[in-house]
Amino acid sequence: MKLTNRYYFDYNATSPLACSVKDWVASGGVFLGNPSAIHLSGRESAKLIHETCDFLFSIFGLKKTHDLFFHSGATEGSNTILTGFVDSMKKDDGALFLYSPTDHSCITETAPIMEGKGLQTEMYKINKNGEFDEVFFQGGYLDKFTGNSILNYTWVNNETGVVWDLKKASRIKEKTNAFIHVDATQAPFKVEDWRKLDCDIDAYSFSGHKFGSFTGVGFSFIKKGYKYNRFRGGTQNLHGIYSMKLAIEEKLLKVDISRTRKAKQYLESELSKLIHKKGEIVGAESSLRNSNTIMMIVYGKKANNLLPAFDMGGMDISSGSACSSGLSGPNRVLLGMGYSEADASCALRFSFEPELTQESANTYFERIKSVFVRIL
Ligand SMILES: Cc1ncc(COP(=O)(O)O)c(C=O)c1O
Repeated sequence: MKLTNRYYFDYNATSPLACSVKDWVASGGVFLGNPSAIHLSGRESAKLIHETCDFLFSIFGLKKTHDLFFHSGATEGSNTILTGFVDSMKKDDGALFLYSPTDHSCITETAPIMEGKGLQTEMYKINKNGEFDEVFFQGGYLDKFTGNSILNYTWVNNETGVVWDLKKASRIKEKTNAFIHVDATQAPFKVEDWRKLDCDIDAYSFSGHKFGSFTGVGFSFIKKGYKYNRFRGGTQNLHGIYSMKLAIEEKLLKVDISRTRKAKQYLESELSKLIHKKGEIVGAESSLRNSNTIMMIVYGKKANNLLPAFDMGGMDISSGSACSSGLSGPNRVLLGMGYSEADASCALRFSFEPELTQESANTYFERIKSVFVRIL
């Protein structure tokens, strides 16, 4: 996206506010009463929350099988679900918490908490393309599952854009009946089937600032009947909640995922030719990728040195975790995929707007090239 005098290529970290949200704020729609109050302003506010709930159920389905709750970002949503499920479950000696080395740190950092609550934890292996390897997983883990085991399944990776087919999670659910949490944070508007949620899967978490709402707000679906700690702020984050409805409505009209994908593929193939043997595109061999992300390794060139070159060239890009685009060490996700420390320190991530067009892709390529020709 072109900002006033810069290009913003860090959409997987945070998306700029949707126009509909800015217009709502500009139009003065921001004064809202406490939705729990019974006066008119409170009732008007509660109505906006109900509208948002109805809207989310209408676009995702799941009304019969799941409850919906709002929280701050996906970090809080997933932690509430995972640790809450453990607290509520009948203790069972063999229960496992399984997660991947490529999961977001908000999941990997939950592991010690789960251990503290009496679960065994294990990081399962994924293949070198960053894919969930169903055959390997079934061979290694299927018979270890007990009814109270938990699997975290990250649908779309924030760093590499590698997509894990949700059907694989559904098959594991069918075979094990383990509790499955899908981290769906990066799915909206970046994969074609982002609204097709399987009602057999236990929980899904989303985060609003990834698709143009205010930051610090998100929502999760969790199967009806689970008892988990739902003590949350008594006064709901109404502005944040309603901004998610506005942002999704706008993007549903504006985003054409197949158009974005085509434009991104063009950019990727041009960048690939440009770096030729001096680097590689991460996950290029994986069978499913999202529509907006290109992660590259530039051999022997540390990201900490490359990032300022892009910054001075007027481009906002990232090298590490989606939420910490400052200076960083080796990329944890790449290490998890089996890359060496040296290569994992030389990664750059471009994540474009879901509204990307071929015309913008042409401009972006020239812009990115102007930096690469100096550093390659
Ligand atoms: C895959 C994934 N999961 C979870 C999170 C955490 O989201 P939040 O910043 O809303 O807490 C992120 C943030 O980048 C993410 O990309």
